Amino acid sequence: MDLGDLRREYSRIGLKREELHANPMHQFGVWFEQACNSGLGDPSAFSLATASADGAPSIRTVLLKLFDEEGFVFFTNYASKKARQIEENPQVAMLCHWLPLERQIKITGRAEKISKMESMKYFATRPRGSQLGAWISPQSSVITSRRMLEGKLREAIDKLAGGEIPMPEKWGGYRIFPETIEFWQGRENRLHDRFRYRKQEPGPDWIVERLAP
Ligand SMILES: Cc1cc2nc3c(=O)[nH]c(=O)nc-3n(C[C@H](O)[C@H](O)[C@H](O)COP(=O)(O)O)c2cc1C
Repeated sequence: MDLGDLRREYSRIGLKREELHANPMHQFGVWFEQACNSGLGDPSAFSLATASADGAPSIRTVLLKLFDEEGFVFFTNYASKKARQIEENPQVAMLCHWLPLERQIKITGRAEKISKMESMKYFATRPRGSQLGAWISPQSSVITSRRMLEGKLREAIDKLAGGEIPMPEKWGGYRIFPETIEFWQGRENRLHDRFRYRKQEPGPDWIVERLAP
């Protein structure tokens, strides 16, 4: 197969400055809703890039569970590799890729743990199997076998039989406070539309700039 032949033109629609909301979180809401209504798979999945203090990057997929005026919230294990990197270096990047819509959103910002109360509220809504999984998986650690995990799951099921499953100490959410949010819409001849919102400091306002494709 010649990978050079794997290309397509992006020509669905354009993105105009006058269509953009002054607040990028509102613009995110509009695109997120369109992604959810488009039938594309896992619209809330995004790539999360973190880096250690000395700049070694790592990236993985996580699920967006909430967004509001302040930022974007995801949940994870606080002892995972991503959590360790955020501890060392809170600057992160996230990428929502909605390729069937010929769109991506690129976000940079700072990640901070959300409050325990907020995490507990969400943990209580998770399916029981996911709650148990959070207890038994030492996320990002080397383990000996899948059998070990399944054994721990059986033990946890026996121990917690029917009762409420408390939230593990090492589990919770992060909120990414955005500093830049770029909306990217694919266009013909690779002349894509790109608009980047940049947080104006101090103050609540955002500067919008068109970037070259
Ligand atoms: C579609 C999808 C959704 C995922 N959602 C999450 C999530 O919300 N939180 C999480 O910790 N890991 C999630 N994962 C697993 C992560 O990609 C990753 O394997 C895990 O968090 C360990 O990452 P780390 O070792 O870099 O910390 C998801 C994976 C996929 C493919």
